[in-house]
Amino acid sequence: MEPTPTQPKTHTAMFYFVIAILLITSAALGYTAYTNNEKISALTQSGASNSEALAKADTTIKTLTTQIEELTEELEDTERDLKREEDRNEEFEDQIKEIAGTVGTLDKLSKTDEELLQKYSKVYFLNENYIPSRLSKIDSKYILSGKGDQYFHAEARDYLEEMIDDAKKDGIDLKIVSAYRSFETQSVLKGQFTQVYGSGANTFSADQGYSEHQLGTTVDLTDPATAGTFTTFKDTEAYEWLLDNAHAYGFVLSYPDGNSFYVFEPWHWRFVGTDLARDLKRDKAHFYDWEQRKIDEYLVTIFD
Ligand code: DAL
Ligand code: ZN
Repeated sequence: MEPTPTQPKTHTAMFYFVIAILLITSAALGYTAYTNNEKISALTQSGASNSEALAKADTTIKTLTTQIEELTEELEDTERDLKREEDRNEEFEDQIKEIAGTVGTLDKLSKTDEELLQKYSKVYFLNENYIPSRLSKIDSKYILSGKGDQYFHAEARDYLEEMIDDAKKDGIDLKIVSAYRSFETQSVLKGQFTQVYGSGANTFSADQGYSEHQLGTTVDLTDPATAGTFTTFKDTEAYEWLLDNAHAYGFVLSYPDGNSFYVFEPWHWRFVGTDLARDLKRDKAHFYDWEQRKIDEYLVTIFD
């Protein structure tokens, strides 16, 4: 049987169809490969740029870390400087306070009568014109009958009256025989004693200008039984009380037994301020035992 004439044509068409399909498939594959390559290339590029970005970020982090470290150091330095400055300021403040305190003390001292702690018994002469800055009349209830008006340094009067009041609470009756005595009064008194006792008066009476009584801070005390400035006062309970307590009110015994100026005068008490009186008692010392320089240190607090 002869082949039909259409068969070759069908084969050829088929052939071209297959070829066409192949071509289209190749083209499609080629295109896909091409686009994949593009994507890979893009991805590769993007990977590269990501690595760059990471490297950059790393550098930036390092830079920032360095900057943070530098700033931290700077901050620590500044804190140290600030602390140093604060310390200096505190030191300065302390110095200012100290200076202000010294100025205050000097000011107080300049307003305090320096005669008040001077030794006047046959040692220093008190100006004949000297009178205490302010005298105050003592309430008559504190004064021994017949002794008239008596005056005391205004700033020390409270100490004196309080001492007598407190003694009373302890059953001790203290009376004032004599308190402030002017230069003139002392002069008249010494003249009278000298007329009676001659030079013997020098053993118990100061010359005018040498008496502690002229300061207004000294008082002669007695009790109603003794009723005067007699040596027998030493045997009284009143004297015992004074020995135990007078320092608390700022009073000291000027002329104890055996002193080198006058006879023993248990009645004669001088106000020197509570600080000095306390320290003298603590040291079992008397006012005239201490150097003037040491005594002067107490002047600023005499009325505190
Ligand atoms: N009785 C003392 C020493 C005076 O006169 O001050
Ligand atoms: Zn006296």
